[in-house]
Order: sequence, then structure tokens, then C-alpha cells
Amino acid sequence: MYQIGDSIECFGIGVVLRSENPAFQVGDHLHGSHPFQEYFVLQQTDSLIKIHNEYHLPWSVFVGIAGLSGKTAYFGWKEHSRAKKGEVAFVTSGAGAVGSFVIQLAKRDGMRVIASAGSDDKVEFLKELGADVAFNYKTTKTSEILAKEGPINVYWDNVGGETLEAALHAAAKHARFIECGMISTYDGSSQSISNLISIIPKEISINGFVTTTLSPKYLETFEREVPALVASKELMYREVVTRGLENAEVAFDDFIKGALTGKSVVIVADE
Ligand SMILES: NC(=O)c1ccc[n+]([C@@H]2O[C@H](COP(=O)([O-])OP(=O)(O)OC[C@H]3O[C@@H](n4cnc5c(N)ncnc54)[C@H](OP(=O)(O)O)[C@@H]3O)[C@@H](O)[C@H]2O)c1
Repeated sequence: MYQIGDSIECFGIGVVLRSENPAFQVGDHLHGSHPFQEYFVLQQTDSLIKIHNEYHLPWSVFVGIAGLSGKTAYFGWKEHSRAKKGEVAFVTSGAGAVGSFVIQLAKRDGMRVIASAGSDDKVEFLKELGADVAFNYKTTKTSEILAKEGPINVYWDNVGGETLEAALHAAAKHARFIECGMISTYDGSSQSISNLISIIPKEISINGFVTTTLSPKYLETFEREVPALVASKELMYREVVTRGLENAEVAFDDFIKGALTGKSVVIVADE
């Protein structure tokens, strides 16, 4: 809960300017929950991870595909997809930071991928990522696409609401639903799903997850694999960079409105 005047917290990267903790040296780059501030003093450093960046990637990558967004996609997919070659996956908000990585994970596992996003430009990006079927859910009905291209074996849910309802309708027997987010309800919209009963005859598994809970199980493999795949360009990502703390509000607004493709990164200060 925030009080008026508090800084908004966000996953970010900071550089150590002064340290009284032997684990961290001046110049180290640390990933973890940071306030939107140019400078801050931290007493509690338990949750911070030092980034080694052995491939000399741009630091912004460590808030996107090699950071929390990437971990969300990777941990959730590895834990819950039970992906099988030739099966069908449906990924919503496919042009976002999480969804764009999920599409690539599903393709790497040999799946046929249906992906949706909210503009024609984003649909072009979904195709570049390897989606076999890509559509704009604002101009094409999700239920019609799924009826034609389904049934679906894995549903990666970033949005909830009526899209979740359509995915339940198009689910194959023993489908796996990975509940990552429900962005269509974050404005307080009510969530009523009329066909939950189909979970029973279709024997659907529905798993919600929290990225940090899965971290002990997958972090090491993630850190070994993902930066290397980004460096070799076997994994694609996009980001929209906003410079200056004073522009953070606009970046946040654009993110919520769906105006951005990929990860929204605010650079508060250059080194
Ligand atoms: N479980 C976890 O631990 C965890 C951790 C991190 C993030 N998450 C969740 O993962 C999901 C993806 O995160 P992200 O950072 O990559 O964000 P994101 O998918 O880029 O989210 C922003 C996008 O959501 C879409 N959107 C906005 N309002 C929508 C609506 N009413 N219906 C459908 N789509 C809407 C817009 O894209 P379009 O133009 O395509 O509509 C917008 O560009 C989010 O739901 C987030 O909460 C979960």
C-alpha cells in the first residue's frame, strides 16, 4: 500500500555508488525491487541479485527478457506447460515482454502457436517471433480464430476475462492453462466466466504462479541459458526506452493503454 509522497517500487537495475556490505562493490549492477528514484540508500539487500553480464548485453535487457519478464515466461512455462511437440499453444498479449518470450519458448518446444495482440503492428511482431497464427483481437473475434485453429493444448493467459472464456471453450482434453496475469481486470472490471464447468469433462489443469516462488527451482538454468541465447540472437526481444524520471508517468500510461510493443524501460540515469 502506498502513501502520498511514496516512490513507486518496480523491478529495476541500480549501480552501487557506495557500499558498507562486503558482498557488493562500488560499480556492481544489482537487480531487484527499486523505487523510482535517482539515488537511494538500502538497508535490506537480501532480495538483490548481482548481474555479471558476461555477454556485455545492454543493461536494459536485465529488466526485460533476461530479467523479471523473462523469468516469468521461462519459469511459468517450464513448470506448467508440459509442452509436447506438435501440440497447440495459445498466447495472449503476445507482443508484450512476457508473451513475446512465451511464443519463442513454445516454438522451441516444437508447438504450433496461436498468438494475439491489440494492433496490426503488434501482429507483424508476433509473426516475426514465429507465431503460426497471429491475429488482432480488437478486429477479429478470438472465439472464431480458436474454433478454426484449435483445439488448444496449452493456454498462456496474460489477460483473463472473455478471452479466458474463449480459451476454455476451445480447450482440448487435458489442456494446461497457465494463469500468469489478468490484465483486462486490473482496472477493477468484474470477471465473470460462464463456462468454468468445462474444466471437469475436459480434465483441464489450471495453474496460477508467482515468479519469485519458482525462482529457487529455475533461476540457475535461466541465468545459464537466457543471456547466452539473447547474445547469440536466438531469442528476440523488443523494448521501448523512456529517458528521465520526469517521463516515467507517460511511460506507465502508455504501457497500460497498450501503446507499447515489448518491454517498457525507464532509464532514470545513465552511468
Ligand atoms: N505471475 C507473475 O508472477 C507475474 C509476473 C510478472 C508479470 N505478470 C503478468 O504477466 C502479464 C504480462 O506482463 P507484461 O509485463 O509482459 O505486460 P504486457 O503483456 O506487455 O501488458 C501490457 C499489454 O497488455 C495488453 N492489454 C492491456 N489492456 C488489456 C485488456 N483490457 N485486454 C487485453 N489485453 C490488454 C496491451 O497489449 P495489446 O495491445 O495486445 O492489447 C498492453 O500492451 C501481465 O498480466 C502481468 O500482470 C505476472
